[in-house]
Amino acid sequence: MTSRKIILDCDPGHDDAIALILAASKISNLQLEAITTVAGNVEVEKNTLNALKVCDIIGLDDVPLAQGANRPLVKKQEIAEEIHGETGLDGPALPAHPSKQAIDMHAVDLLIEKVLASDNDITLVPTGPLTNIALAMVREPKIIPKIKEIVLMGGGTFGNWTPAAEFNIYVDAEAAKVVFESGVPISMFGLDVTHQAVATDDVVNKLAKIDNEVATFVVELLTFFAKTYKEHFGFDGAPIHDACTIAYLINPSIFQMQRVRVDIETKGEFSYGLTSIDRLGVTGREPNVDFAYGLDKEKFWDLMYDALASYSN
Ligand code: BDR
Ligand code: CA
Repeated sequence: MTSRKIILDCDPGHDDAIALILAASKISNLQLEAITTVAGNVEVEKNTLNALKVCDIIGLDDVPLAQGANRPLVKKQEIAEEIHGETGLDGPALPAHPSKQAIDMHAVDLLIEKVLASDNDITLVPTGPLTNIALAMVREPKIIPKIKEIVLMGGGTFGNWTPAAEFNIYVDAEAAKVVFESGVPISMFGLDVTHQAVATDDVVNKLAKIDNEVATFVVELLTFFAKTYKEHFGFDGAPIHDACTIAYLINPSIFQMQRVRVDIETKGEFSYGLTSIDRLGVTGREPNVDFAYGLDKEKFWDLMYDALASYSN
């Protein structure tokens, strides 16, 4: 396990919240340099409030949190209220007014400042639409060669928002195109792998035995999330998509990866937001992505269990 500096760019979001909890846990080897928020699951103001509330619950008061883009680059905003509820984090009872405050700086400026000041050792972890990351790259291209890696949740060989497109990429495919064509090393956790990270009843029952406030909060998140996943997709449990990125950074041996070419569709009538994943090498185009296609379920849930248990002491 190697230690890494990360910036989590998120839209919490039940699974974003769990990703943050995993990253900030005592078993994590990650150093959170900043948290940035983006319009995605719900409006950016709600996502920011949710991120602040999660920070309160886990006692994360020393990491700067900045609000970012309030809409996609080109297209009209779409939200996923039917999956995450009206607040974006429905289910658990949350503090109405978190004590932590967002800093008075745009997320894109914070991203640029942090990366420029770094020793090329910051990994960006986007778990929402890629609007902030694309904006930062366009506004200050000098950051591009300084970003160590981007480890993102998005895309897949099938969709969940349209038959072709996954939500994070669909919401802002133009931004995704900028990021995937940037030349920054990318590790991609799409639906192929995140749908293997489903919190079944067995998983939730095991996590419910952990006696601390953070584990209880996660169980409440998973209970609500499972309900909407049942209603919308007929799943028995919710996939905690975004937490795969952090699990990979903590222990890459959990995942199976393939180096492939990925391009983003921004034009198709039925395929807008599709990630074209060249697993058989038919394009002859230079690979630009480490694509996650498998995970060891036992190791993954053991990691989650240990992370939540670490909040007990
Ligand atoms: C992605 O969309 C959001 O609803 C989740 O938080 C995750 O980032 C899954 O398609
Ligand atoms: Ca998300």
